[in-house]
Amino acid sequence: MTDRLTIRRPDDWHLHFRDDEVMRGVVPYTAWQFARAIVMPNLAPPVTHAAMAAQYRERILAAVPKGVRFTPLMTCYLTDDTDADDLARGAAEGIFTAAKLYPANATTNSAHGVSDVARVYPVLERMEAEDIVLCVHGEVTEDEIDVFDREAAFIERHLRGIVRDFPRLRVVFEHITTSDAVRFVRECGDGVAATITPQHLHINRNAMLVGGIRPHNYCLPVAKREEHRLALREAAVSGSPKFFLGTDSAPHLRSAKETACGCAGIFNAPFALESYLAVFDEEKALDRFESFASIHGPAFYGLPVNEETITLERAALEVPGELTLAGESIVPFHAGETLGWRLAG
Ligand code: DOR
Ligand code: ZN
Repeated sequence: MTDRLTIRRPDDWHLHFRDDEVMRGVVPYTAWQFARAIVMPNLAPPVTHAAMAAQYRERILAAVPKGVRFTPLMTCYLTDDTDADDLARGAAEGIFTAAKLYPANATTNSAHGVSDVARVYPVLERMEAEDIVLCVHGEVTEDEIDVFDREAAFIERHLRGIVRDFPRLRVVFEHITTSDAVRFVRECGDGVAATITPQHLHINRNAMLVGGIRPHNYCLPVAKREEHRLALREAAVSGSPKFFLGTDSAPHLRSAKETACGCAGIFNAPFALESYLAVFDEEKALDRFESFASIHGPAFYGLPVNEETITLERAALEVPGELTLAGESIVPFHAGETLGWRLAG
């Protein structure tokens, strides 16, 4: 039995840092585990211009603990009025690594998102020409579509069309949650990939709704039926370069989760690697973990792999029931559980 695993230092290809005190509290968790992270732009107000992203990047860098090497990779929040010149300039200057498409009102701080995909077609055309990666929150927002069907509907109503109309645009279908998404990504060419979160590999919708309502297991896209979780697991451990690590760590304080209208988002940054590794261990795929965590992401984004390594060891890791963040309580993913691996050293 393998008891120690040394791999190239991984990256997190999708997460939320927020800003101010919460940001300063969560950045160290990610910087201790990952060399780089794609930082989502859904602040209030959103990060819509290169100058805003450059300033946000400075604030994040100032929160990285001394002696830790960590690079935030910034994204541009697309709106109906995105300035394609500013986006292209920001990408050329190395400020933007990607742009994020939120359908308006699909999730947290997405009110300024895109109201109709057709509105951003000129921007997508420019992104294709400049080879800027598009990250997509793939859920429709129409009232009549059931929340559990919103990802599958987005594929048929929007994503298939985007991929057809911009064949050279590189697209990351973020935090996929369904077998429909796995199938779609597999059927597309090399320019279409997906991130998979730890929570969607661990839990199905029962974890949110059986035995009482469990707000800390609520995120968007919402966890689906067991058959979908199994399809995601298969994709993650398959070795296909189309699937890679993106935690979607989304901190919300306990008070914002445990309330009549709780926020969507699971805070998994503190034990993200241990959480993913538990899945690869259960699937007898420890030999595939490095490619999922450290190789496929940089390959897709056209960035170098990290030369540093990290080591994980088999040992009981007790996840605390809560952590302190910004002077308040926050509940991490796996709160109160024991995981079977931990970061060594
Ligand atoms: O659960 C989620 N939380 N999904 C998202 O798409 C956004 C995120 C957040 O920002 O809290
Ligand atoms: Zn996200």
